[in-house]
Amino acid sequence: MHVKNLECSFCHREYEARRVHNVCTECGKPLLVRYDLQRIGKILSRQVLYTRRSDLWRYREVLPVRREDNIVSLGEGWTPLHHVKNLGAALGMTELYVKDESQNPTQSFKARGMSVAVSMAKELGIKKLAAPSAGNAAAALAAYCARAGLEAYLFMPRDTPRANIIECEVTGAHVTLVDGLITDCGAEVARRKDDEGWFDVSTLKEPYRVEGKKTLGYELAEQSAWTLPDVIVYPTGGGTGLVGMWKAFDEMEALGWISDKRPRMISVQAAGCAPIVRALKEGSDRATPWENPRTHAAGLRVPGPLGDRLILRAVRESGGDAVAVSEEDIRTATGELTRRTGVDAAPEGGCAFAVLEQMAKDGRIGRDSEVVVFNTGSGSSYRT
Ligand SMILES: Cc1ncc(COP(=O)(O)O)c(C=O)c1O
Ligand SMILES: [Zn+2]
Repeated sequence: MHVKNLECSFCHREYEARRVHNVCTECGKPLLVRYDLQRIGKILSRQVLYTRRSDLWRYREVLPVRREDNIVSLGEGWTPLHHVKNLGAALGMTELYVKDESQNPTQSFKARGMSVAVSMAKELGIKKLAAPSAGNAAAALAAYCARAGLEAYLFMPRDTPRANIIECEVTGAHVTLVDGLITDCGAEVARRKDDEGWFDVSTLKEPYRVEGKKTLGYELAEQSAWTLPDVIVYPTGGGTGLVGMWKAFDEMEALGWISDKRPRMISVQAAGCAPIVRALKEGSDRATPWENPRTHAAGLRVPGPLGDRLILRAVRESGGDAVAVSEEDIRTATGELTRRTGVDAAPEGGCAFAVLEQMAKDGRIGRDSEVVVFNTGSGSSYRT
């Protein structure tokens, strides 16, 4: 309703909304949705939100779907923000929070992006959607396509957690297992999509998954009485969540909902696949693909994220950091996060927690800082 246009995140070329788009046709970089925030600010107050549905569609004015009946929802978003006092006490911290994204449909935050992307696909008349995935995105796309009556074509590495593969199969998606990495899966989608008539919903190769993910930022603010934490610790693969939250903060400031205070964004990666960490250390504004990526935190095995510049920009502008964690430390931290909170932590969430532990110990995060760690998925998919 309030979309002005789409804009290339790199060369700023503008594109008409309500047409099917993937990336910028000039430079190949991600497109982002721009809204008429002045107008939205006049018609939508923060108080109105309190009466709204308990999912991410409570923010529908800042989401791209025009017609209500195109919304494809399974109850995504509005997940708990737990004040984890026992875990905080173990680190000498009083204001530690875990945003538990395992509570989403299909048990990960990928549901947010896919709910919005599939809704937009429905609105634009797309029938067949294809995506490469480390597992959770595929499970989410499969479920939302089932809900919408659309077809999903999913490409996953053969060693993807078994539970994710089964989830996709039982929802009736077309599943192909690839001997290779997520990048090989992406290449397969790109090679076949024109002949097969598929719309490519790879991370940041279409403009709407990031819109769903940005609601993480709106929720954080609303759940904390319209203030933001001092630090956000976020496990980064393709980076949509981090980029989305950064976009949400800008939008909310333009709406007059929050001040200009921003959290420090800490991007966390596995040591076996850390292109963002390396780029930040080298002072580069883009990441070079990681050779031979390895980690059991499957969602973080993304060697060359398309949104590299956007991730690095958000981390730098926020005065944040990017930190890598060993496989052993991911395992230990995942166990501890679950034992001390009862939250079913995914290795990706454990990876983020491991960094918080390191940074709190060496003083890079102050003990009285308000910190939010993201548990982006559920441990259960890794246990079968
Ligand atoms: C549980 C989990 N956490 C984190 C990520 C990385 O997410 P993003 O692409 O937003 O960086 C993924 C991606 O597959 C995931 O499944
Ligand atoms: Zn461009």
